[in-house]
Amino acid sequence: MNIVDIITKKRDGGKLSADEIEFFVKGYTEGTIPDYQASALLMAIYFQKMDKEETFRLTEAMRHSGDIIDLSGIEGIKVDKHSTGGVGDKTTLIVAPLAAACGVPIAKMSGRGLGFTGGTVDKMESIPGFRTAMEPEEFMKQVNEIGMAVIGQTAHVAPADKKIYALRDVTATVNNLSLISSSIMSKKLAAGSDAIVLDVKCGDGAFMKTQADASALGRTMCEIGQAAGKKTVAVITDMNQPLGRAVGNSLEVIEAIETLKGNGPDDITELSLKLAGIMIYVGGRASSIEEGDRMAKEALESGRGLAKLKEFIRAQGGDPQVVEDYSRFETASIAADIVSDFSGYVQSIKAESIGLASQHTGAGRLCKEDPVDLSAGICLHKKVGDTVKAGDVLATVYGNDREKVETGAAEAKRAFVISDEPACEEVLIKEILGL
Ligand code: URA
Repeated sequence: MNIVDIITKKRDGGKLSADEIEFFVKGYTEGTIPDYQASALLMAIYFQKMDKEETFRLTEAMRHSGDIIDLSGIEGIKVDKHSTGGVGDKTTLIVAPLAAACGVPIAKMSGRGLGFTGGTVDKMESIPGFRTAMEPEEFMKQVNEIGMAVIGQTAHVAPADKKIYALRDVTATVNNLSLISSSIMSKKLAAGSDAIVLDVKCGDGAFMKTQADASALGRTMCEIGQAAGKKTVAVITDMNQPLGRAVGNSLEVIEAIETLKGNGPDDITELSLKLAGIMIYVGGRASSIEEGDRMAKEALESGRGLAKLKEFIRAQGGDPQVVEDYSRFETASIAADIVSDFSGYVQSIKAESIGLASQHTGAGRLCKEDPVDLSAGICLHKKVGDTVKAGDVLATVYGNDREKVETGAAEAKRAFVISDEPACEEVLIKEILGL
């Protein structure tokens, strides 16, 4: 077998066999296939596409390129949750304790973020003392004892995806259904859970701009998961404005805590309860989705979810007092209000611009090695549909570097579209696939 024949076959619209796909993934990961040939093949896949079987084979080849995490030492049906990435998305911090409080073991591997804000690991690390570096035995022991643990992603899980994703990023081949779905699912399948709940975002702030594209991605990932023997559900959700009001690491943790206290923004609360309900159902703790929904709501209203979050923070070395005392988080030295120049209705808040603005404040990374400013970010005081008077504060931008805060504030102001017409309301949860 040789890579030139494989490139030629895909360039001409042929279907790659399992052996050919494996040959490419193995060769590229090990360095025997160079970047220029891998780039050519990715571009051929981009234009000619892959069918279901090829997409599944690509996922499997990447999944098996490194460690497959063995969670069999944890009792019960382990459920993982993944979001395709949204601005202000802190649902993991709410959903995981709610599901764990209802008996679903959560053994989660999370990454650091590149782009708008940090990832779940960065957000958790804004809690003083919190650590995500753990030995596998300690990780499993914690899940068996308290029902949840979050560990930082190791470089040994799906290393082929890591290398191929980096190449896609610089060869304009990210945005392809088969390449995105195999990339996400190879990591999820290698992470060892028994069931997977996917939150697939659609809209201005997401990879998939339309509901049709997001549904196609969700459906493909469900098919891959089911073919691999894992119950997989995809929830298609709106990302035409940031989720909740807080964007930035410690700001998002505080909003997650407030949500678990019952004081969260409506959108975050609605989505978290829905995702937690599905997790409780696929985790075998409820006999129907409706029962899962009720159990999630009870865990929130009774404070059991909040108590679980506190227990989890303590178990991972963090200061559990942050739950009551937000002054224990690092605080930003600069806060700049963004004021509206017009009166009217908030027509839209471009999620992508708010994400970029947050990145400018220092809350996100431009490069993999950059440190993140855990206290920086943006708090939205107005959301789509709200009325605004000229002079009202639309948002507050936080940070520790005046220039960064000013750049972030200018970008955040551009995100708000104010008009005379009331805004049409977007449905937050658009579709549930795979049930
Ligand atoms: N997230 C991933 O992990 N991979 C993609 O290709 C896109 C989003």
